[in-house]
Amino acid sequence: MTSVLAPPPQGSDLKPVPGVPGVPYIGSTLAVMRDPIGMARKRYAEYGAVSWGWLLGQRMVTVHGPEAAEVVLVNRDKAFANGPAWSYFIGPFFNRGIMLLDFEEHLHHRRIMQQAFTRPRLHSYMDAMAPGIVKGVESWEPGQGFKVYDHIKKLTLDLAVDVFMGVELDDAERARVNGAFIDAVRAGTAYVRFPVPGLRWHKGLRARKVLEEFFYRHLPAKREGGGGDLFAALCQAETDDGERFTDEDVVNHMIFALMAAHDTTTITLTTMAYYLAKHPEWQERLREQSFELGKAQPGFDDLDAFTGIDMVMKESMRLVTPVPALPRKVVKDTSVLGFHVPEGTTVVVPMLSNHHMAEWWSDPDRFDPERFSPERREDKAHKYAWAPFGGGAHKCIGLHFAGMQVKTILHQVLQRYRWSVPARYEWPLDTTSLPSPKDGLPVRLEPLEQ
Ligand code: HEM
Repeated sequence: MTSVLAPPPQGSDLKPVPGVPGVPYIGSTLAVMRDPIGMARKRYAEYGAVSWGWLLGQRMVTVHGPEAAEVVLVNRDKAFANGPAWSYFIGPFFNRGIMLLDFEEHLHHRRIMQQAFTRPRLHSYMDAMAPGIVKGVESWEPGQGFKVYDHIKKLTLDLAVDVFMGVELDDAERARVNGAFIDAVRAGTAYVRFPVPGLRWHKGLRARKVLEEFFYRHLPAKREGGGGDLFAALCQAETDDGERFTDEDVVNHMIFALMAAHDTTTITLTTMAYYLAKHPEWQERLREQSFELGKAQPGFDDLDAFTGIDMVMKESMRLVTPVPALPRKVVKDTSVLGFHVPEGTTVVVPMLSNHHMAEWWSDPDRFDPERFSPERREDKAHKYAWAPFGGGAHKCIGLHFAGMQVKTILHQVLQRYRWSVPARYEWPLDTTSLPSPKDGLPVRLEPLEQ
């Protein structure tokens, strides 16, 4: 039965948010986790752009479409906060990461952090990353049942140690830090959300301690010695007004950045590999472009030549959006597209289903990278039609870094291997948290004849 979220203030011409709340706390959580796009389409058809229901234990207002996304992400009247919304999902493991800060405090941190993502910095991250990518990709063993997701995940985690931390680690310490990092990420999706020894939440808290201890131990040397890695960059970052991060800030931001960078890049590359296996004509097209460059190791400025990889990357992030939904907590009464949204509500921008709206995309479920070609540019229909990196004050600070890493890795893979899946294979995608293939995406990996 339809029920409104809250009556608008007397005398206002705002409308109340409609919806079918469902069972308190649970609502349509399971159905949304199983089929986020189908459920969003149904909701949009029944209630329009703004509606509410119980989801993931909260009264959740979902705002569909790019116009509503713009209102929430641009956040002109500072009514939508990140910290209280995201910390509900990622718990204490990413405490005071920049994405969890808001308004003035966020801006202060963002200004400093920007210094770690300048063009010269990106150049040095790329130099630091290149040998590790070649080594990692060369170590792959061709054959049947090669699990793309697992290999990419390992590669990006190993790269994180080189490019993010820039610290020489022996095998035991690398395994300890990597393990702690994996436990911290996994803890955010725990069902039991308090510490019970042996369960995810407890492991996550322990992992956070391991990571803190690791970064504090290496911090004095980084402050002193510098380097081309992100850790050194955050230690040295300084605005024109002389603002710098404290030790505590550096540690919090490093732990958060590792998380923000890792799973997102992994799923983007894995999705690209999936569609390139399903569409061998695209795989060949990208391979040709890679060989045309005539350089085994592209430099930062060469990446613009990979126009095919760029279109496939954009299309893959549209079809399988790495951060499928962006939550915000409403900190004062506000409105979205003429609907009254009261303080205390959680609002969610469903970026994944926005990317599948027939109102904005032609044949939205089809893999069609050409929609991003200069002739078509379907994404230009609205500034927020394609927004896998978010928008507004919290827009992904690592988007150029991500593009650089994804393109460099794919270039190295295309030059060495060809991969395929059986014609009828459809990957089983787990959408209960950030998307990932339940089967690890097994492909047949073959070395290219030289
Ligand atoms: C394909 C890869 C990536 C995707 C799809 C992605 C997506 C996103 C999205 C959607 C947000 C905004 C979240 C919100 O508004 O609530 C975000 C924020 C952020 N991302 Fe990324 N990201 C990627 C890679 C990276 C990388 C490689 C880094 C670091 C090197 C990074 C660092 C961050 C940080 C620090 C924030 C928070 C920014 C702030 O709050 O000011 N991301 N990312």
